[in-house]
Amino acid sequence: MPEIKQTPATNEPSSNGAGPYLREADATTPKPQPANVGDPPRARYAHIVGWGYHVPEKVITNQDLAQIVDTNDEWIRTRTGIAERHVAADPKETSASLAVIAARKALEVADVPASKVDLIVCATTTPEYSFPATACLIQDAIGANNAGAFDLSAACSGFVYGLAMARGQIMAGDAEYVLVIGTETLSRIVDWTDRETCILFGDGAGAVLVAASEVPGGILSVDLGSDGSGGNTLIVPAGGSAMSTSLETVSSGMHYIKMDGKAVFRFATRVMAASTRKVLERAGYTADEVDLVVPHQANIRIIQNSVLNQLKIPAEKVFVNLEKYGNTSTASIPIALCEAIEAGKLKPGYKVVFVGFGAGLTWAACAIDWRTPVEKQAAGWWKNTRRQATYSAAAARSMWKRAVRWVYEVLPDPEAPGRESGKETPEAPVKEIAGERTKE
Ligand code: ACO
Repeated sequence: MPEIKQTPATNEPSSNGAGPYLREADATTPKPQPANVGDPPRARYAHIVGWGYHVPEKVITNQDLAQIVDTNDEWIRTRTGIAERHVAADPKETSASLAVIAARKALEVADVPASKVDLIVCATTTPEYSFPATACLIQDAIGANNAGAFDLSAACSGFVYGLAMARGQIMAGDAEYVLVIGTETLSRIVDWTDRETCILFGDGAGAVLVAASEVPGGILSVDLGSDGSGGNTLIVPAGGSAMSTSLETVSSGMHYIKMDGKAVFRFATRVMAASTRKVLERAGYTADEVDLVVPHQANIRIIQNSVLNQLKIPAEKVFVNLEKYGNTSTASIPIALCEAIEAGKLKPGYKVVFVGFGAGLTWAACAIDWRTPVEKQAAGWWKNTRRQATYSAAAARSMWKRAVRWVYEVLPDPEAPGRESGKETPEAPVKEIAGERTKE
């Protein structure tokens, strides 16, 4: 793991929300062990120490879309800022497969083996299945055999919700390493005949590794919000318990994204600014002091109306890459974070804000005192070989476990009735009489 530097903080966190751990920080505190009930609070901080992203190869431009719906490049660029988006054209590319690549990259940057991960939080609106959780599939594929795993549903705010979960687990002493992933294959739930939605979305995955540390800084404050009264403004109506899948729901396209764009736009511009203000105040920062904002990449006009106009944060401090990817929902902030790092826009000591909004309706922001070095470390052949070996071992372990399960399936059950002393006697038929089961 890269050594987190203890640079002098220009702004100590305030008392309103940064929590006792941050206020009573002492860099000389020994490395904390997981807390036991009754232990006094200890200095623990949650730092992002690894990051990675992956997008499918296939690119769909605005001109391509103009071939299938009544739209044009000029309208899409001026109304949204989007020029192109990546889509999972290969059926083998799924939310889990994209996430696995992003997660491995994050672990590589952090130089932490998957076996050390305590928890995987996968934020997604396009999970592989209703269940099992996509997080569990990722856990198996990367070989994080000591990790708990769950999916988080907060739409595009999900990644920042996930960071809040990671921070909470770490500060409570319940985890040392938490992998937070945002992954989407929105192209699979977009109605490609609806010009109001199909132009907006793209596919991709981003992941970060959050680690416990005694070095002050990291994720200082979070703000999570929800307004369920606006749930119907951005919704996939069918496929859940409210409207289970049927021939009718499929033929009427109720399994696709339905959106009231104007209502979402108004909501987004309001909450993005308000939530950013809250986390800045809780971290003891002013808007002027912020070095980098990584907003949810939905629409350039939403970013301009909220972060730039309302908060007066200049454009050069706001990272935008939505022209290349469109709205990748939960993946948009981690992908943008990775590209901001690649572009040299993030350095240790920077004050950083992530802010997003999404279906729910939900919103979320966090303020970060970034301390992790961002220079790319050369891995060396030995580390690369060892890494490849661990991926192969993870795949082999998964196959072995499936094989063991299969053997249990096909072997006769030793606990089945009538199998004592190896002699099989057919069980007497059971009759159901007035709720009581009696043997004939
Ligand atoms: N191409 C050309 N014309 C179009 C298109 C298109 N793709 N889409 C709509 N239009 C037309 C409309 O029909 C309308 O025509 P009319 O005036 O003749 O009726 C005109 O353009 C203006 O439409 P509006 O809906 O007023 O356009 P608006 O400026 O509101 O932009 C947009 C629409 C881009 C969807 C905007 O409202 C928006 O970005 N909203 C937020 C959406 C969002 O961020 N959603 C994701 C949330 S994150 C999550 O959780 C998944």
